[in-house]
Amino acid sequence: MKSLQVMLKAGFKDFKKTASFFPSSPVLVRHMVAPLRLERAKLVVEFGVGTGVVTEAILKRLRPSGRLIAFELNETLAAYARARTADPRLEIVTRGAERLLSELRARRLAGVDAIASSLGLSLMPDRTRHDILRASVAALRPRGVFTQFIYIHGTAVPFKRFEGSIQTFPAEEFLEDYFARIDRDWVFRNVPPAFVYACRGPIKEP
Ligand SMILES: C[S@@+](CC[C@H](N)C(=O)[O-])C[C@H]1O[C@@H](n2cnc3c(N)ncnc32)[C@H](O)[C@@H]1O
Repeated sequence: MKSLQVMLKAGFKDFKKTASFFPSSPVLVRHMVAPLRLERAKLVVEFGVGTGVVTEAILKRLRPSGRLIAFELNETLAAYARARTADPRLEIVTRGAERLLSELRARRLAGVDAIASSLGLSLMPDRTRHDILRASVAALRPRGVFTQFIYIHGTAVPFKRFEGSIQTFPAEEFLEDYFARIDRDWVFRNVPPAFVYACRGPIKEP
């Protein structure tokens, strides 16, 4: 089955989790991966593998000794991506991204250089998205980079439940609690168009 069919099927089955009907376009993937400084990275994490389009791009740039731990909740999507991207540097974990720290500990890994997140943050409960960002910041090295895309409707249409009321998802405001510097880029060539946030300077809890 083609990547598009697999994603469409997953989206119709559980849109709230999948957060999309389409795999990301090559342009969006490029914007997600470019800020990650993968040539120097030893340990990289991906959240929300889907059919593996971002995964594949990360592996293309990752050095031979690098490692990619990628989280995907949906077993069907994880199996599809595994078959597509079989690579000894990659491990796809069928657990929620909120389990990041325990999954790293179980593998005796620490000091993440880069995280690429395609999660539908705007559709998640407040607590889950805060748990994921807290864990990401704790896992990242001080010079680590975190990229996240949010579809345009996720930030512009006021139908999401955020902090107890119905309003738009204030992506930048949300990310500012976790990172000292956020650069936003706009990707029109994707269905739907999206903003890409490149976040640096993880703010560690004392
Ligand atoms: C918008 S899709 C992006 C897929 C792919 N990276 C792409 O760009 O085409 C988000 C993916 O995140 C997965 N997902 C949702 N919640 C998750 C969680 N808590 N942990 C890990 N993956 C999750 C969904 O199953 C879905 O495959």
